[in-house]
Parts: sequence; C-alpha cells; structure tokens
Amino acid sequence: MEIKDNKLYIGGISVDELASNYGSPLYVYDESIIHEKIKIFKEAFTEIDNLKIYYAVKANSNINILKIFKNENIGFDAVSPEEVELALRIGYKKDDILFSGNNLTKNEMRKIYESGIIVNLDSLSQIETFGQLVKELKFKEKVPVSIRINPDVGGRNHPETITGGPNSKFGIYYDKVSDALKLAEKNNLVIEQINSHIGSGILEADMYMLAFNMVLETAEKIPGLKQINLGGGFGVKYHPKEKSMDFTLLGKEVNAVWRDFCSDYGSVPVLSFEPGRFLIAEAGYLLAEVTSFNATPTYHFVGINTGFNHLIRPMAYGSYHPIYNGSNVAGDGSIDSVIIAGNLCESKDIFTVKKGVLEPRDMHTFNIGDIVVIAVTGAYGYSMASNYNLRTKPPEVLINNGKAVLIRERETLDYLLKGQI
Ligand code: LLP
Repeated sequence: MEIKDNKLYIGGISVDELASNYGSPLYVYDESIIHEKIKIFKEAFTEIDNLKIYYAVKANSNINILKIFKNENIGFDAVSPEEVELALRIGYKKDDILFSGNNLTKNEMRKIYESGIIVNLDSLSQIETFGQLVKELKFKEKVPVSIRINPDVGGRNHPETITGGPNSKFGIYYDKVSDALKLAEKNNLVIEQINSHIGSGILEADMYMLAFNMVLETAEKIPGLKQINLGGGFGVKYHPKEKSMDFTLLGKEVNAVWRDFCSDYGSVPVLSFEPGRFLIAEAGYLLAEVTSFNATPTYHFVGINTGFNHLIRPMAYGSYHPIYNGSNVAGDGSIDSVIIAGNLCESKDIFTVKKGVLEPRDMHTFNIGDIVVIAVTGAYGYSMASNYNLRTKPPEVLINNGKAVLIRERETLDYLLKGQI
C-alpha cells in the first residue's frame, strides 16, 4: 500500500479507481505481498531437512489464491471434506494435502480415507469411530492415521482463538497419549502422524517453542512417526503497537530443538506447519464507501456500506484492523474522533472496537463517497463472510504487476435464492 497525491494505492492502483471499476464493497489482494510472506516463512526454516508447509485454506479459499500457493509448492491444509474435495479438484496431489478436521462423522472419515488422505483423529472417541469403520470395511492391513495432540499450552492471543490447553475442545490431551496408542493398536490403526495447533495470532517465538517442546515430548512416546505437524498460528501486526513475530529467531530455535529431537528419536520425520493468516492477512483489504454521518451526545458515527457480514473479526473477537480514508488520506488536515459503523441492522456492527466496546479512533475527516480501506483483511475476511440481512458478498480482485483481475464476482440475489424450494 502506498500514498500518492493524498490517495491510497494498492499494488499500484488507486483505491478510488478499484472501487469505481468493481464497485464497493470490494475485497482486494496484492499478490506481491503473498510472495513476500512465503519467502519469509520458507527462509526461516531452510535448515530443516524434511520441511513441509501446508497453507491453512480456511484463512482464504479463493481458488485463484490457492493457485498462487500451489505454484510456490506449498501444500493444502484442509479441515473439512469439502476443502479436501476442493484440493483434489484443483489438482493437488494426495501427498500435498494434510487433513486436520474436528468432530467428524463416520461418513466424513470414510470420504477422506477413500480419497487416499490420512484421517486426523482428535479425540479417543474419534479413534474408536474410525476403528469401527475400518472393521466394517474389512481392511486387512493396518490403517495409518494421524492424531491431534493438545499440548496443554494455549497461544497468548484472543481467548476465542486459543486451541490448546484445558479449555480447548481440540485434540487428545498430551497425558492420554498412551491410551491413544492402545486404542489404535486394538482397532488395527497405526499412528504415523501427530498434529498440534495451539491457537492463532501468536507473535512471540517463546510461546511457539513451549508448545513445540511439549509436542516433541509426546512424539518421543510414539515410535515410527512419519510426520510431526505443528499447525499454524503465526500472528501478524494488526495494531501499530504490536511487534511482528521474529521469524529468524523462531527458525533458529526450531532448528536447534528439532536436530536434538531427531538424533534421539533415531529418524527424521517430516516437520510441517500449517500457516494461514501469516501468508495472506496483510495482502488483503476490504474497500467500502462512506454513506452517512450520525452523532449522539457520546459518539460521532461514520457509516459505511459493509458490515460484520463481510468482516466479522471486530465483532466476533474485538479485533483491531487499521482503517484509512483511501480517497483523501490526510483529509483537510483536521482530525475527528469517530466510530466506523457498518450497515447491518445490529448495534454491534462496529469496526472500531476494543474488547467488545466501542472505541473511537482519531481519523482525518471523511466525506460522503470517500473510499474507506480496512486493512489486514486477507485472512478470515471473505472466508468468514455471511449473507446476514440478505446482503450479497462482495467481489474479490487480485492485483499482480500493476494489473487487477476479478477473481470472484459479486454475489446476486438470484445466487442467494438458489436451492430454496
Ligand atoms: N491449523 C489448524 C488445525 C487450525 O485450526 C488453524 C486455524 C490453522 C492451522 C491456521 O491458523 P493461522 O495460521 O491462520 O493462525 N477466525 C479466527 C482464526 C481462527 C483460526 C482457526 N484455526 C480469526 O479471524 O482470528
């Protein structure tokens, strides 16, 4: 993003031009940032011999975005049978698909297993259910499976996105691994892979290392592992006061611990990660238009033509996103303390919040029709969007080498009504 003549540009094109060509609201992605993030990630772990990176598709599943990762030889981390099917449809090889779903039905397990992908089981009861399926299908050979471990460590981030520790629904608690091994044996399964993901938005290497060490301690108890997966969770800088993750430091620490582990373990399994947010968040922007102003004795509201149906993170987690006036970056020089509000019929449809409470932000004066840019929205933006209030989802545009391409059309009412009888 850059500023020229008081206007914001994304990938070399002004946001005014983008909004006038494609309408608003609109999601825009800058491909160069995706490549930059992939490079940082790969470089941090170059010392690891058997490294594999799978992009966590849940962060943003636009097919054109997925193709960028595929061309960079990055695998596909799927969490649902639908995501697995998408991976296969766009030509991912089975070995490049990692599945880490939660609370699956027997039929879903069957579908994944029959596509040739290792099923990840994240509770003792899921091991039993899969065991029953194996019995019903009369497999003679032992069936390889993956289990998800809860390493008793939760990421230091929004409590809503912690996926490790005692309050998390995910994974087999680390102290129950011997039960998992016995159950697997009894059900003709062999644990070839372990997964762990402690949460999202982690900015400190120490928290990651804590979980890594716990996972490796668990791994020592499971012979013959072919892959150890550490999940994703690498944070990005949303707030100006946040500090980005030090990938050079993390890479060095991971490498040292990994080498020690492999020499004790007696083999070098694949070490894999599933980053989502880190690879795509900063490449994405949600563009909207200023539609109105309103004031109460407490707040000045600036109304825009999008809402939590298009970006739910502020409403769901109280998340901070940088917001700019893209049409008039410096305004007329004056600063107003404003609340940016969406267009849904819900009072919590607010983009400037702190821990669920309205938080005015000092911003340059807006005018009706100005293009507001909500930044760092490439991850968990469109992929979490809904049609609440029967609003259609915005189009998506990808910019590469100064050229914008429409990668998803704006939804229509006809599209929304499809399938209703
Ligand atoms: N692997 C597993 C098993 C996961 O559950 C997740 C995210 C990831 C990888 C990728 O995590 P990432 O690198 O993107 O942090 N909607 C929330 C984030 C929920 C993440 C869910 N799992 C948000 O907008 O902050």
